[in-house]
Amino acid sequence: MLFVRACAPGPPALFCFLAPRIELRTARSGGATKMPRLTIAIDGPAGSGKSSLAKRVAQTLGYLYLDSGAMYRALALKALREKVALDNSLALEDLARGTHIELKPPTPEQEAAGSKNRVFLDTEEVTQAIRTAEVAQAASRLATTAGVREVLVAEQQRAGAGGGVVMEGRDIGTVVFPRAELKIFLEASPEVRAGRRWKEHQEKGEVMTLAQVLEEVRERDRRDRERKVSPLVRASDAVLVDNTAMDVEETARLVVMLAREREKELSTAAGREL
Ligand code: CDP
Ligand code: CDP
Repeated sequence: MLFVRACAPGPPALFCFLAPRIELRTARSGGATKMPRLTIAIDGPAGSGKSSLAKRVAQTLGYLYLDSGAMYRALALKALREKVALDNSLALEDLARGTHIELKPPTPEQEAAGSKNRVFLDTEEVTQAIRTAEVAQAASRLATTAGVREVLVAEQQRAGAGGGVVMEGRDIGTVVFPRAELKIFLEASPEVRAGRRWKEHQEKGEVMTLAQVLEEVRERDRRDRERKVSPLVRASDAVLVDNTAMDVEETARLVVMLAREREKELSTAAGREL
């Protein structure tokens, strides 16, 4: 059985799925109106800045942050360890059904070291272990299996139900939350994306040339875009944001502004219905 416990920082585990609702007094009605809490979907290719952006936006808005890619990575790590062939769909689906994955907020030390979600695989912490190029490649191979996606998507939908969530991945705006109130498709040039990843590898003391990282990123992008099930594609109603020349803060400011506008639109529409 696969389980994702996604907790916003602060509340005890018991309340993990209970996103706090903000109560507002509107001048018009004088009554209490609930400020809408959006579902924000962020999709894009490897290294485009999804996790950094999603985490920052969630912090600013007081939303839950969920990294769907971490789930594919955790399962891939288990498949590699248990030597399950990455083209054996039935075995991979069985593995997914028999796996327990938890996402939790990082400790302050982990946060300072760049972790955005803590990841537990069958109770073992694998936050760092899943961040290798080998696991990334295995994740993108295993992610082509329809049965695996079915299991993980159901968990993602359950974890994000109720709104007040920023989820990032490849198919969030198209498959996981097709009715998300705000969808962002994040892009950056392959060279810049590879450069960002290469820097991360350098900082961790992993020896990889920039050319190797670029090749890894290109191969994964191609597989993610060309697979039959839930390929990486921009949803028709997603806002395309190219952050090749933008830093995380600038990109987050833009997305928070879009989110506030959507919150206001929905709140006004709800007010009209009162
Ligand atoms: O989640 P995804 O693979 O899309 O990217 P990320 O992990 O958020 O970002 C990869 C690296 O690029 C991180 O080290 C970010 O700090 C960095 N980055 C950046 O330098 N400028 C941006 N606009 C976005 C991310
Ligand atoms: O951080 P980065 O963008 O490099 O990758 P990730 O988000 O951690 O995802 C690793 C792999 O999982 C991707 O290359 C995809 O193949 C797969 N994935 C997916 O298929 N669907 C998602 N919603 C998230 C990740």
